[in-house]
Amino acid sequence: MKILIIGNGFIGARCRSAWDDAVLSEEKIHTTEDVAKILDAHQPDAVINAAGVRGKPNVDWCETHQLETIVGNTKLPILIAEACQKKGVYLLHIGSGCIFYVDSPEPGGWKEDDFGNPIPVYSRAKYAADLVLSTLPNVGIARIRIPTDSIPGPHNLIDKLAGFKKVIDVENSITVVDDMVDVFHELLNQKATGIFHVTNPGVIKWREVITLYERYVDPSHTNEWISNDDLVKQGLAVKGRSNNRLQSNNLEQLGIMMREVHEAVEDVMKKYAAFRHHAHV
Ligand SMILES: NC(=O)c1ccc[n+]([C@@H]2O[C@H](COP(=O)([O-])OP(=O)(O)OC[C@H]3O[C@@H](n4cnc5c(N)ncnc54)[C@H](OP(=O)(O)O)[C@@H]3O)[C@@H](O)[C@H]2O)c1
Repeated sequence: MKILIIGNGFIGARCRSAWDDAVLSEEKIHTTEDVAKILDAHQPDAVINAAGVRGKPNVDWCETHQLETIVGNTKLPILIAEACQKKGVYLLHIGSGCIFYVDSPEPGGWKEDDFGNPIPVYSRAKYAADLVLSTLPNVGIARIRIPTDSIPGPHNLIDKLAGFKKVIDVENSITVVDDMVDVFHELLNQKATGIFHVTNPGVIKWREVITLYERYVDPSHTNEWISNDDLVKQGLAVKGRSNNRLQSNNLEQLGIMMREVHEAVEDVMKKYAAFRHHAHV
């Protein structure tokens, strides 16, 4: 199978380095014809869209750059889907699990076909793409949340939490990147259609992540704990962040399992510590 990865950002590059059967395009896309040219050049069996606009330095940027956010997260996936549909090529689009706010209506977490209730511009733009792409045949949507990685980097939950002086005392469903790359590959392999919550089973408290960080990486680390409401009240964010629990029934139905979140995060933290040790960070 030949996979074409669109988008040379954090997730796209991470997938490229994990897969032997993938090529990565970093061509800028403005039209469906741009996508068609890329498909003609690479002749892939399957495409993953890892391109999007996440906001720099963080997602609050999207609140004042609405059009760029909509173009990158709603229009761009539609352009890619249109070209893939015309050529009969399977598309896996990376969505976000941060389209759900507050607790799920039923215990166990938000399900794949629950209607989202996104508030920020970024989440609305991501959800808009989900709503329309999920009506198409030959398309899968893989929603991820809060990537947590064994390789240090600015987009890694571990680096983010360790770097904040004040941390919100919450728990969440998260995506362990080491597991995610295998799940994406299997979804591409199966050309799986529908929506998938690519999050590790269970929820983890930020207190538990910090405890593991202090055990394996930096025993001298300290931080202050604040409530979720304090994040906006204290001016640390423009919009409140989504904290939620997702369930992944559609992955289970395909026989695709991810490690329980605590097991996966402890393993990742040990690898993260080893990486930093070897890199003398
Ligand atoms: N990281 C997360 O926390 C997270 C969580 C949930 C979902 N996601 C989703 O996962 C996907 C990948 O995110 P990421 O973290 O890898 O973001 P990223 O590091 O910002 O990478 C996104 C890439 O898309 C490229 N891009 C933007 N517009 C493009 C266009 N018109 N044509 C071609 N490439 C374009 C960007 O290029 P430039 O930098 O040159 O603009 C960048 O290389 C996004 O859809 C994001 O919404 C990410």
